[in-house]
Amino acid sequence: VADQRTYSKGALPLSAHAKASFDAIYPPQFYNRIPKQGVFMDIGTGIGRDAIAVHNRSKGRLLVIGIEPEEGSYEQACAQYPDKDIVLCHNWDDVGKVKRNRQIAYLAANIQDLETPPPKLKADFINCSAVLMFVPEQEQDQFLQSLHRLSKPYRDIFLRWRTDMLKGQMIKVEERDLVRKLINHSFFPDVKPDFPDGAPLYRDFSWHDMIITPTQKGYSPA
Ligand SMILES: C[S@@+](CC[C@H](N)C(=O)[O-])C[C@H]1O[C@@H](n2cnc3c(N)ncnc32)[C@H](O)[C@@H]1O
Repeated sequence: VADQRTYSKGALPLSAHAKASFDAIYPPQFYNRIPKQGVFMDIGTGIGRDAIAVHNRSKGRLLVIGIEPEEGSYEQACAQYPDKDIVLCHNWDDVGKVKRNRQIAYLAANIQDLETPPPKLKADFINCSAVLMFVPEQEQDQFLQSLHRLSKPYRDIFLRWRTDMLKGQMIKVEERDLVRKLINHSFFPDVKPDFPDGAPLYRDFSWHDMIITPTQKGYSPA
């Protein structure tokens, strides 16, 4: 049962999670920066809530790719959104066949295990929400390298993590360490206040938000 999976302990029940309004979850700094067309990736998409919301908002102009390793989440996504044509993919060839106007790609993988996508499938925007706390410390470098490979250079990646209510195998992400790692992996980190005008009442946890930009390898702001 999805609600009992380790990663979601303490979070909203699945049905409430699926119904949550996009604008209540994400600040305008996130959704205002999503391009009108191109490729959008939702890493750790789970039941696909954010991927579906972005596909709806883009009116089919964005190729939306949800990436998720958890077995069973694809079936849950299909059950939760029966009106949506969510296509299970196992590699970039499968993703390349998805019709962006009426389908959503669901790529079953850990991002660390994915090959570099062909240039036309690299992301113009990545959402990576509530995933970082689940990546073990020893895999964080590989995870960040993978994020870099998935994106076109100088595009935005929205990174969201929490440091409260950590359960099970979740790790505490220290912002200082994360910024250091991001710079080592050639990202420009831009820390954002979470809802500068006050978060909506409807929240499950308090979140840390950052927009990071992959630069060319070897970039150093120093
Ligand atoms: C708490 S859920 C977040 C779901 C959704 N993104 C949200 O914001 O509500 C974390 C998800 O990240 C996925 N995940 C963990 N490590 C991952 C990795 N290396 N690559 C892709 N997804 C990963 C988990 O399987 C899980 O579905």
